[in-house]
Amino acid sequence: MSGTPEGGPSQGGAFGRDPRPEAKADAVPPLRDIPMQPIIKPGLTGNAAVSVAVSWLAGAHVPAPARDARVLLAQALGISSGQLAAYILDPLNADAARAYDGLIKRRMQREPVSHILGQRHFMNRTFRVSSAVLDPRPETEVLVRLAKAEPYRRVLDLGLGSGAILLTLLADARGVATGVGVDTSEAVCEVAHYNAQSCGVLEAVDIFISNWFEWVEGRFDLIVSNPPYIAAAEMPELAPEVRDWEPRGALTDEGDGLGAYRAIARDLATYLEPAGRFLCEIGPTQADAVCGILEGAGLSGLEVHADLDGRDRVVLARMPA
Ligand SMILES: C[S@@+](CC[C@H](N)C(=O)[O-])C[C@H]1O[C@@H](n2cnc3c(N)ncnc32)[C@H](O)[C@@H]1O
Repeated sequence: MSGTPEGGPSQGGAFGRDPRPEAKADAVPPLRDIPMQPIIKPGLTGNAAVSVAVSWLAGAHVPAPARDARVLLAQALGISSGQLAAYILDPLNADAARAYDGLIKRRMQREPVSHILGQRHFMNRTFRVSSAVLDPRPETEVLVRLAKAEPYRRVLDLGLGSGAILLTLLADARGVATGVGVDTSEAVCEVAHYNAQSCGVLEAVDIFISNWFEWVEGRFDLIVSNPPYIAAAEMPELAPEVRDWEPRGALTDEGDGLGAYRAIARDLATYLEPAGRFLCEIGPTQADAVCGILEGAGLSGLEVHADLDGRDRVVLARMPA
């Protein structure tokens, strides 16, 4: 995940486990350490304001302070990051300085940049995100690319979140594929619905609340899921951006991290067409356990695929023909 530290060997790998020994205790400055008075003053040039912001962000242990300071300045100025060079020597007016000050103070509390911007890029599309949905991770692209490697017509996404997986699959098979996406709350479904519209696939998708398959009908030739797979015991190890800001129900099953796979596997045979594919994202050490669960549910042809860092990331399984 860009914007968070890279993970260690725990399931938190994709979710930015904070690797620094000192990070856990003091990563997030208490609110009393975030000054009430402005730290960004009007009249500073963009460059000078970025320098000030970087030192405050670094002091709050933000992992990539220079990058975040520039992205947030662009946001405060209402321009794209690509346009920043043209404005960076201009002095900030009072409104821009106030806006930038507010954004930097939010980031000092380790609020993810994507939440502050309200959006995240995933596979060349922009997805709305909020505190209700998981910020889609670059690692999840592995699952999407594998799904796209074979044709599909009818797709089910269990645990839709922003819709990054399902909506990308439908947008890239426009006119061919339709799909269903389910999640646990109205707030999640609203974000996904917005994203379905912006991806231009609203007509092709049905989005509703369901506890996994509970309200799902019909059969699918492709079922995908990136379920919550962090064990409850690992939650304290996560980077503050994830642990304190992402929805807990998107991260952990409150158990050993395998609960969602067990629950989903129980019903796969009912909803997957013969020869249909099931693809799920996993934590880096869960491949054997998840393969065992899926084999136990009658699936075969199991494959484990790694992400660009060489960590096991996706399990592919097939329903017998
Ligand atoms: C790791 S997030 C994945 C979100 C999105 N698919 C992505 O990859 O960015 C897991 C999602 O599963 C949802 N979820 C958790 N338990 C669920 C359940 N019992 N039924 C349906 N969805 C569930 C969470 O709300 C969350 O949106």
